[in-house]
Amino acid sequence: MKLLYIEELDSTNRWAKENVDVLDDMTVVYTYNQTAGRGRLNRSWSYMGEGNIYASVVLKPSDRMSEVYSNLTQLLCLVLAQTFEEYGAEPKIKWPNDIRINGKKISGILAESVIDLNHELKGIVLGFGVNLNVSKDLISSIDQPATSLNLEIGINIDKELFLKNLLDKFCLLYNDFIREGFLLIREDYKRRAEFLNKEVSVKVFDKIYSGVAVDVTESGALKIVDKDNNENILLIGDIL
Ligand code: BTN
Repeated sequence: MKLLYIEELDSTNRWAKENVDVLDDMTVVYTYNQTAGRGRLNRSWSYMGEGNIYASVVLKPSDRMSEVYSNLTQLLCLVLAQTFEEYGAEPKIKWPNDIRINGKKISGILAESVIDLNHELKGIVLGFGVNLNVSKDLISSIDQPATSLNLEIGINIDKELFLKNLLDKFCLLYNDFIREGFLLIREDYKRRAEFLNKEVSVKVFDKIYSGVAVDVTESGALKIVDKDNNENILLIGDIL
């Protein structure tokens, strides 16, 4: 992987998308000063100081969209969880790609694709923010329960080393993942899922689906069963 550090950016995702033509496949753009980070569903990603990671991986697997590309956030989510575990933390996955520790969010992933006028795929930008070193005061000032690795394990984290560990894991699995799809990681992903066998409500655009989350399918979708025993397979959505 090629690492590209930029001292300050509004958003690594925005910058990577704008420069996708000149960036090689497997380039990681990162900064420690992100001034206007973006999250999913038009939310923002708060700046938590320069002890944390704000990064985007640029991937160019082919010029045609493929179903498996939408599962790449789940691959990144799994390797993030595995990296947190190496530090002794116990991360849990909230489908599809949030990671929480003790019920509090510690990282976020935003995947965006760049498609040209001929419908060719120019690249996929996989952005992620990881809270590694945040003060207690700052973390409690944001609008949802959040945490940071230093607060969970009581030591300061070497952010460069964390990033290296994470990207090494991602690279090791990436080619097989593109070939084999979500099935490659399904069991490892499910083992860390905090939602399975629990009653959940999932928001998909304007609709809410409620029921017991019984499985994550071979293609990474969430299977829920409602009180009348109807099955719903959800490909996108947010567990509320
Ligand atoms: C979410 O949980 O809603 C996704 C948050 C993604 C934040 C990261 S930080 C680096 C990259 N650049 C952005 O503007 N957003 C992503």
